[in-house]
Amino acid sequence: MNSNIALIGFMGSGKSTVGKRLARRLGRRFIETDYLIEQEAGKSIVEIFKSGGENEFRRLEEMVVKSVSDTAENTVIACGGGVVIRPVNIERLKASAVIIYLQTSAAALNERLAFSRKRPLLDRPDRKEYIRELEAARRPLYEAAADFTVRTGNRPFAAVINEIIKKLDINESPNH
Ligand code: S3P
Repeated sequence: MNSNIALIGFMGSGKSTVGKRLARRLGRRFIETDYLIEQEAGKSIVEIFKSGGENEFRRLEEMVVKSVSDTAENTVIACGGGVVIRPVNIERLKASAVIIYLQTSAAALNERLAFSRKRPLLDRPDRKEYIRELEAARRPLYEAAADFTVRTGNRPFAAVINEIIKKLDINESPNH
């Protein structure tokens, strides 16, 4: 049963903000895989990358996605931007969730990510070019994984959420 809603998309596409508000409107739980990874590791994402590199982070991410897919119900799940790198993550998410791709232009992402210090992958001098490159490389993976796509970036969150609810064709919580 697809009782969960998984949000995927590039860093800075608004998965956490949209996810929290969507969950409130639908009367569902909200979780973030990045938060669960930090709980599991007992350290921050930045520290995980520092001590174990991206490999260690992806190992933890796969573990968390498996456990969420096995156990979560009626939950909005905000996934890390790189969740699509490992096909097994998408297979598992698909078994329990409708997957929504929050798509944002590279220009808008650049604006939103210019000063982020919590994203180790962007900790490099050519951040701007790298965002463009990585976004272009990942876009086909997000598109292939998603049940449907909603544009974010330069429109109000309320409009994004209204569109999601309409496309999901489900009822809102009466007491949101
Ligand atoms: C990553 C995105 C981050 C976090 C990690 C790696 C990625 O999550 O999981 O830094 O590979 O795109 P957000 O998309 O929430 O920033």
